[in-house]
Amino acid sequence: MANYKFPKDFLWGGATAANQLEGAYLEGGKGMNLADVMPGGKVRLDVIGKPGFDFKIDHEKYVYPNHEGIDFYHRYKEDIALFAEMGFKTYRMSIAWSRIFPKGTESEPNEEGLAFYDRVFDELKKYNIEPVVTISHYETPLHLITEYGGWRNRELIGFFERYATTLFERYQNKVKYWLTFNEINGATHIPLLGLGFSPETEETKLQDSFQGLHHQFVASALAVKAAHKIIPESQIGCMLVYAPTYSTDCDPQNVMHSLQEQRIFNNYCGDVQVRGAYPAFSDRYFKENNISLDIKEGDLDVIKEGTVDFISLSYYMSRTEKKDKTPEEIGQGNLIGGVKNPFLKASDWGWEIDPTGLRIALNQLYDRYQKPLFVVENGLGAYDKIEDDGSIIDEYRIDYLRSHIDAMGEAIADGVELMGYTPWGCIDLVSASTGEMSKRYGFIYVDKQDDGSGTLERKKKKSFFWYQNVITTNGEEL
Ligand code: BG6
Repeated sequence: MANYKFPKDFLWGGATAANQLEGAYLEGGKGMNLADVMPGGKVRLDVIGKPGFDFKIDHEKYVYPNHEGIDFYHRYKEDIALFAEMGFKTYRMSIAWSRIFPKGTESEPNEEGLAFYDRVFDELKKYNIEPVVTISHYETPLHLITEYGGWRNRELIGFFERYATTLFERYQNKVKYWLTFNEINGATHIPLLGLGFSPETEETKLQDSFQGLHHQFVASALAVKAAHKIIPESQIGCMLVYAPTYSTDCDPQNVMHSLQEQRIFNNYCGDVQVRGAYPAFSDRYFKENNISLDIKEGDLDVIKEGTVDFISLSYYMSRTEKKDKTPEEIGQGNLIGGVKNPFLKASDWGWEIDPTGLRIALNQLYDRYQKPLFVVENGLGAYDKIEDDGSIIDEYRIDYLRSHIDAMGEAIADGVELMGYTPWGCIDLVSASTGEMSKRYGFIYVDKQDDGSGTLERKKKKSFFWYQNVITTNGEEL
């Protein structure tokens, strides 16, 4: 018997992002966005991680899996029916900015884009599934990247505010839960996805990333203010990629170094968006790293007035840090850095699996902010195999999710206020970091392969029925 109970109104569901599943990249008046120029396959990791990406499509060299995605744009009814069959109470999705404002700079929105999401929300409503909508999930309009330099440019604040306000006005009777920027703090590590620019040099990377983040903080705060005005009952959250940082041992030098990493990666953005002010530790960090922020008059007031109602997070892994890493130790940890943790196993993509880390994350966040939390991403990217009888027996995924749901239960028993859980990629979709289809997260299998072949047929995996029962029993049967 577990020593916890999930709240009665706990929001069980699943999460996706427009660019990773919709496809139809040039239909319905949509403009190009960042994901449309990202190549498929492990080569994407090079593009994301290294300076100098040119944002151009090269069909001779690469494939572009996001162009078709899993064709949710045409198959959303079938997919939402499957979510409903699993018993979803909620569905986290994003709106592709460039469906609404194809270039990002227009004064009037694209009606066809708005109408598409009306149809999606109406379909969800049919099954009483509450949408949670990310306004910006790694899909900044390409025009804002190539012509404006992405979020380094202050003008994006105004474009974003117009876009967000358009969404609040249009969907005020359909959407109550909103998130502003997906994994906003990921930008301190990889600026390309969230901030839409490829750093010119390692030296400019920090300066430009922190300036870009400042623009996003102002934009997010303006969106929070607008949402509260237009939809009084709305709740709008920030979204952090949270990876609790451990010290590799109890050497105080390593502990201090880990604390510093924890602050910059995990706490910095949350402090600004939740508390409404820059944290005390930022001054020294900026000085020592030659970062100087251009903060305009009024920005800090806006940030103070536009604090979020709740904190959402993605949790995939923890991170283990050490002050002086040997060359062999560098890159041995997770995608987000650190060294190998000898106590943890890793996924086929090297992401260390640490359910207790989720309990730690939730406790750290609640201790720090005392705001409701929402786990809007978590899951295991894994290779799936179709058996001769057509079934997909994904025990490894069930084990992963079971242990993480258990960790959330323990955090609830610890006193954490948790609103819901939407595991990532509830239906197989294109991986954000590698552009692969074979890195699958779903309860629902989609017949699409890395080379683009496949019928796009949907199939229920074993985890589909397992998760259905988790929801029916409100987390009592794992
Ligand atoms: C999160 C992103 O970082 O992790 C998602 O918000 C992403 O967009 C997910 O898909 C899993 O990462 P990946 O690289 O395995 O797709």
